[in-house]
Amino acid sequence: MNLQLITDYKVENYQSDSFRSDVLDGLKQNPKKLFSKYFYDKAGDRLFQQIMAMPEYYLTDCELDIFKNKTRELANSILSDNEPFDLIELGAGDAMKSTFLLECLTKENVDFTYMPIDISGNILSVLNEKLNSNLPELEIIPLEGDYFDMLDKAMSISKRRKVVLFLGGNIGNMDTEESYHFCRELRRKLNRGDILLVGFDLKKNPHTILNAYNDENGITSSFNLNLLVRMNRELEADFDVLNFQHYQTYDPISGACKSYLVSLTEQNVHIGNEVFHFEENELIDMEISQKFSPDDISKLARDSKFHIIDEIPDSKNWFVDSIWQVI
Ligand code: AVI
Repeated sequence: MNLQLITDYKVENYQSDSFRSDVLDGLKQNPKKLFSKYFYDKAGDRLFQQIMAMPEYYLTDCELDIFKNKTRELANSILSDNEPFDLIELGAGDAMKSTFLLECLTKENVDFTYMPIDISGNILSVLNEKLNSNLPELEIIPLEGDYFDMLDKAMSISKRRKVVLFLGGNIGNMDTEESYHFCRELRRKLNRGDILLVGFDLKKNPHTILNAYNDENGITSSFNLNLLVRMNRELEADFDVLNFQHYQTYDPISGACKSYLVSLTEQNVHIGNEVFHFEENELIDMEISQKFSPDDISKLARDSKFHIIDEIPDSKNWFVDSIWQVI
C-alpha cells in the first residue's frame, strides 16, 4: 500500500501572499469584491460544517442520497471494461460521500487507486488514517496542493485511465466565465476516454434556494462575516464586524445565488497601510452559488469538449451528478 503524502511546496506561504493581494485587488474594484475561497479558515470550516447540518441547506443531503442509494449506478458509469484507473477527487475533504463509492469498488475488487486532492494536509492525513482503518485494502495516494498542480502530479505518477470527481456543487462557486475556463483546463489535462463526474445544484423553487443561504439562525451570515474576522487577524485589518450585514439574493432566471455584505455606515477600514472607504449601504460582493438547468450543464460540457455519458439525480431531482467523458 502506498502511504506517500506529497507536499511539493510551502502551501501556507503561497496562500497567505495570494490572500493579501487578492483582498487588496478585490477591495479596489467597483463594486468591492472578496473571494469565497478564503472563507475556510478553522472557524470557517466549523461554520461550513454547521451549514451542511442545517435543515435548509439541502445540497449535502441530496448528493449524499445519490452516493448512498445510487452507488451501483455511479460505479457502472465510471467503470470501463475492467480497465484499471485512478480515482481523483478534487477538494476531497473528509470524503464523506465518495466513501460509499470507494467501499462499493473495493468490495468488488476493482483495480483502482484513490488520489484525494486537497489544499489542507491536515484533512488529508485524517482521511488517510480513516480509510486505512476502514478500507485497509484500498490503495491511496493523497496529494496536497492546488487542484491543477496536483492533477499534473497525478498524471505523472501513473498513466492509467483517470476518473475525476468534483462534488458538492463547488462548481457553483465560480462565475460563468470561471466555470467555463475551469472545465476547459480540466479537459486539456485529461486524455481521451477519461471521465469527469461533476455535482451540480439544479434550479428549483426559488424560495427553497434562497432559504438554504438565508437561514434564520444567521449561520450563513456568520460564515460571510468570518472572512472580515480572518482579515483582521491575518492581514492587520480593522473591520468592525458589527458595521456590516449579510444580504442574500437569488435570481431564478440566471440561477445566480449571491451573497453580499452591506456597510451599515459610512466608514474607513485599514488593511496594513491601505485605507478603504465605504459609503453607507455600499456592498461587498462575497460569493456566488450558481444554480444550473439541464441545458446549462449540456452547454458547459459541450463547450469544454466533453460528452455527457450519464446523469444521476437525487430522489427529489434537486441535484445531479453529471458524468462526462473526454471525446
Ligand atoms: C461550498 N459551496 C458549494 C457552498 C455553496 O453552497 O455555495 C458554500 C456555501 N456558502 C453558503 N452556504 C454554503
